[in-house]
Amino acid sequence: MPKLIVITGVSRGLGLAMTEQLIKENHTVIGCASRIAGVEKLQQQFGSPHNFTVVDVADDRSVKAWASEVLNRYSPPDILINNAALVNHLAPLWKVPADEFDRLIDVNIKGVSNIIRHFVPAMIAKNSGIVVNFSSGWGRSTSPEVAPYCASKWAIEGLTRSLAQELPAGMAAIPLNPGIIHTDMLEICFGESAAAYTSIQDWVKKAVPFLLQLSPKDNGMPLTVPI
Ligand SMILES: NC(=O)c1ccc[n+]([C@@H]2O[C@H](COP(=O)([O-])OP(=O)(O)OC[C@H]3O[C@@H](n4cnc5c(N)ncnc54)[C@H](OP(=O)(O)O)[C@@H]3O)[C@@H](O)[C@H]2O)c1
Repeated sequence: MPKLIVITGVSRGLGLAMTEQLIKENHTVIGCASRIAGVEKLQQQFGSPHNFTVVDVADDRSVKAWASEVLNRYSPPDILINNAALVNHLAPLWKVPADEFDRLIDVNIKGVSNIIRHFVPAMIAKNSGIVVNFSSGWGRSTSPEVAPYCASKWAIEGLTRSLAQELPAGMAAIPLNPGIIHTDMLEICFGESAAAYTSIQDWVKKAVPFLLQLSPKDNGMPLTVPI
């Protein structure tokens, strides 16, 4: 059955790949990214009923306006995917500039919370829907020089498991580690050796069926895409 799926961070990487694959499989995707170029391209490529908007998830007022527009026009989403995130430029924690740290936390933690604040009440009213918050291997382990990112993804694990205890029985909140995939973000972390990791094309073939089979029985379980 075709589903309605809201995804943040649809212009590149995993968000773009999920969008393209889900649309190919006849689902409807509502997505956002913070920069106009990627959003315009998607809007031209996939018209109605799909919809793509420029929204900075860190800006609660923009998220509120976007959610209200989406919820006026569509039913509450079957799946809400918090995918948008940033990674810090590699550096020991004491060398990470305050504005870079602040922005990462604003996007990776507060952005997820903003999306949940404005979409989840409509899902609760319908007592259905799955919230998938993209975590990371670095939400369950640590490495040097990615402390801000690790802090944000460990926060996502905690936030999501706590949310899972608040939702009604027909819903689920799941922290999802996507694996290690060759995207722009991985190039920031690993440089040229990023190319040795799973391609986006291979990842999406596994990730989309995995996402579509998630159900309330998965509520609160830290999961990993089987690659
Ligand atoms: N790639 C991996 O190996 C890997 C591993 C573990 C976890 N993850 C997680 O998987 C998710 C996707 O990662 P990725 O590798 O695909 O990242 P990516 O290639 O850097 O893409 C990130 C996407 O998020 C959007 N975005 C960034 N800031 C935003 C904001 N403030 N508001 C709205 N959209 C924003 C970007 O578009 P704009 O720049 O246009 O806003 C882009 O579409 C992230 O949560 C990441 O932490 C990835």
